[in-house]
Amino acid sequence: MISQAKTTDVNQDPVLVNDWHVVARSRDLPEGKILKVRVLGEDLIVWRHQDQVMAWKDLCIHRGSRLSLGWIEDGQVVCPYHGWHYNNSGACTLMPAQPNMTPPAKARAFVHRAKEQYDWIWVSLGEPKHDIPPFFQWDDPDFRKFQAGPYYYRANGFRTIENFVDPSHFPFVHAGINGVAADADSIDRYEVHRDEHGLRTDEIWVYQPYGDHRAIPVDAGYVYHCFRPLTAYFNKHTIVKDGTGGNDDRFCMMTTVQPVEEDMSVVWLGVAINYGPELTEGDITERQDQVFEQDREIVESQRPEKIPLDLREELHMRCDKLAVEYRKWLKELGVTFGTA
Ligand code: FES
Ligand SMILES: [Fe+2]
Repeated sequence: MISQAKTTDVNQDPVLVNDWHVVARSRDLPEGKILKVRVLGEDLIVWRHQDQVMAWKDLCIHRGSRLSLGWIEDGQVVCPYHGWHYNNSGACTLMPAQPNMTPPAKARAFVHRAKEQYDWIWVSLGEPKHDIPPFFQWDDPDFRKFQAGPYYYRANGFRTIENFVDPSHFPFVHAGINGVAADADSIDRYEVHRDEHGLRTDEIWVYQPYGDHRAIPVDAGYVYHCFRPLTAYFNKHTIVKDGTGGNDDRFCMMTTVQPVEEDMSVVWLGVAINYGPELTEGDITERQDQVFEQDREIVESQRPEKIPLDLREELHMRCDKLAVEYRKWLKELGVTFGTA
């Protein structure tokens, strides 16, 4: 029996098609390399030429072979089957079996939009209706920037984002690190605001016995944002319990989830921090690897896999206010890929 690849009609979800999705870190895409990635059920290649990044369908128009099996030669993608060359605009420049013929205009790669920002490669399968979301501290020299992940979840992207913006799971999923199971924080009433960047909460305070790499107890105030359906952020205001910290210690994290399939995600993390000059990327990665592994197991276990947008499904409490507003917002936006 011929096996059929699972496909999803992403055209039914213009919200995600017309949005930006991270598919790689800049550091993983040196010149001369072709990366094979998948987003919204579509296989793509990404590659770079000088300061430009490209994202194309992983398909050669000649006979449908995968360009990801090809290679880069003189700044052009070479198809592995008959050696057609494609330049960075997607045009075929050479058909080796007919070297003197000018390739027809139709001999082109299927080109999508691609951009490089915050040391990530972002792609859009459609016509983006929004800019890439803000990373507020990116240009602030007081903040050092790091990356962690990627983390691979056999889970839905919206469930993954909802987990990222949920402070009431800390004492249980991250017991001993971000909370204390036997003395779980009561979450004070907070509001969720809408602004030009999406959703934003008031500051939500929790106690963390191992609040960061300094391995010391802290009070942590989180302001969460949901910029886009699959991109969120928090700014964590950290106050060291013994008073040894700074006046305004901030640990900020942006996460963006690559929707591979409705139930498969890649989690990308960017960190900005204005304290702890001794902190290395290894310290950040070690902690986030642990925390996101703990989250992965829980999020992968959630049923149904697709996030239910009908608020009569599941049971929402006041402390879940952000999740409630997030689901309402997804529904208003009309997101369908991965929602129920
Ligand atoms: S299939 Fe790509 S060159 Fe023939
Ligand atoms: Fe978590």
